[in-house]
Amino acid sequence: MNILFLGDVIGKPGRDGAAAELPALKRALKPDLIIANGENAAGGFGLTRGVAEEFFAMGIDVITTGNHWADQKEILTYIDNEDRILRPANYPSGTPGRGANLYRTASGQSVLVINVMGRVFMDALNDPFAAVEAELNACALGESADAVVVDIHAEATSEKMAMGHFCDGRASLVVGTHQHVPTADAQILPGGTAYQTDAGACADYDSVIGMDKAEPLQRFLRKISSQRYTPATGPATLCGVFVQTNAKGLAARIEPVRAGGRLSPHLPKL
Ligand SMILES: [Fe+2]
Ligand SMILES: [Fe+2]
Repeated sequence: MNILFLGDVIGKPGRDGAAAELPALKRALKPDLIIANGENAAGGFGLTRGVAEEFFAMGIDVITTGNHWADQKEILTYIDNEDRILRPANYPSGTPGRGANLYRTASGQSVLVINVMGRVFMDALNDPFAAVEAELNACALGESADAVVVDIHAEATSEKMAMGHFCDGRASLVVGTHQHVPTADAQILPGGTAYQTDAGACADYDSVIGMDKAEPLQRFLRKISSQRYTPATGPATLCGVFVQTNAKGLAARIEPVRAGGRLSPHLPKL
C-alpha cells in the first residue's frame, strides 16, 4: 500500500500549495490513502467545515489535528458526524469527535489512523502512550487493519521518538506533526515501523513556522504581543512523508516529500 502523509497545512497559502502540488504527487506516487494534518488550516488556527471540504475535494482522505483542533468552535458541532476528521485521542472522555478510526481505501484495504498529542511542553492531557496502546490493541495490524498510521502531535522530539519505538512493529508509520519543520530522520525502525520525527508543514517557509515573521520576531525581541499571528502568504512548500508497506503492513520504504515553495525539493520515485 502507498500512503502519503502531509504535515500541518497552514492557512490559505498552505491549502493552495497543497492543491497545486497534489495532482502531480498523486500521479507520481499513486497513494492508496492521503492523510493531512489540518489543525492550522483555517487562517492558521483550527479547521472549519468549508476548509475540511476543500481538503476532501483535493483528494485528502483523512484529516488529523492537534492542539489547535477546536480553535474554530464550529468544529464542535460537526466533528461527531464527520469521521474523516480526527482530534487527539488523549483528550478527556466526553470530548466531541474521535481520536482514531478505520478507513477503507478504494482498493478495499483497511487503514487504522490514530491521532495523539504529546504532553511535554504542551497541555496536560491523558497519557498518549496508553491511548495509543488501547487503539493498537482494539484494531491490530495484520489482524483488523492492513496498515496503521500514528500522527504524534508533539513539541518534544524525545517524546515523538519514544512513541515511534513504542509502536515499532505494530504500526506502518509513526510520524510527528506540530513542529512545522521537517526533520531529516526518515527511517524504518528495527521492528519495521516507518518513522519521521516531524513531517514539516505545508506552508510558506519565509516565515516563523508558517506565520508571518514580523509578529513572532517582535514578540521574541520585546516580549509583548501587538497583534495576532497570521499565516505567511508566499508560495508554500508541501512537506510530508511517503510510505510503502509490505505484505505484513510494515514499512518497506519511507521517504520525505517536499514540493514547491522555497525548501529544496524531494520527490520520491515509484
Ligand atoms: Fe500545527
Ligand atoms: Fe500544533
